[in-house]
Amino acid sequence: MQNNLIKISFKLNGKQVESEVLAGMTVLELLRRNFRLTAAKEGCGKGECGACTIMLNDQPINSCLKLAATLKNDDEIISVEGFNEDKLMNNIQQAFVEEGAVQCGFCIPGMTITSYHLLQNNPNPDEHAIKQALSGNICRCTGYRKIEAAVKKAADRRHE
Ligand code: FES
Ligand code: FES
Repeated sequence: MQNNLIKISFKLNGKQVESEVLAGMTVLELLRRNFRLTAAKEGCGKGECGACTIMLNDQPINSCLKLAATLKNDDEIISVEGFNEDKLMNNIQQAFVEEGAVQCGFCIPGMTITSYHLLQNNPNPDEHAIKQALSGNICRCTGYRKIEAAVKKAADRRHE
């Protein structure tokens, strides 16, 4: 029986990779099933919660909305796992821990990627900018104040 697999190639966490996907498979499913990268989570599955946030070509996207078959050779995906050696990301993660911003942890990979993108583009965000940046990331544990404090702390630390 023909299973209509589509061959794709793209850059993932610094390496060119290949995979075979079904037409309807999302990038979130691709990462979790084909590459066993499980930091990005499926919350709503329809672009509303941000739990599945990853970087695609330096922009945070909801990976549950992007079809894997649309990835091109020169597309570059970075998931949280790909930021292990990154100083800014390590700073953010450390600040989340110190501020007690991690409760169940489900939203945290997405929160940290969104925060990373914010701090890359705005090294000194005020409260409004932080709230705005994180507005697409939902925390079901409602830990927003601590999450916002963690982002502020990570920003302040960059200037020490
Ligand atoms: S799982 Fe993708 S936005 Fe909620
Ligand atoms: S820490 Fe539980 S969903 Fe945010």
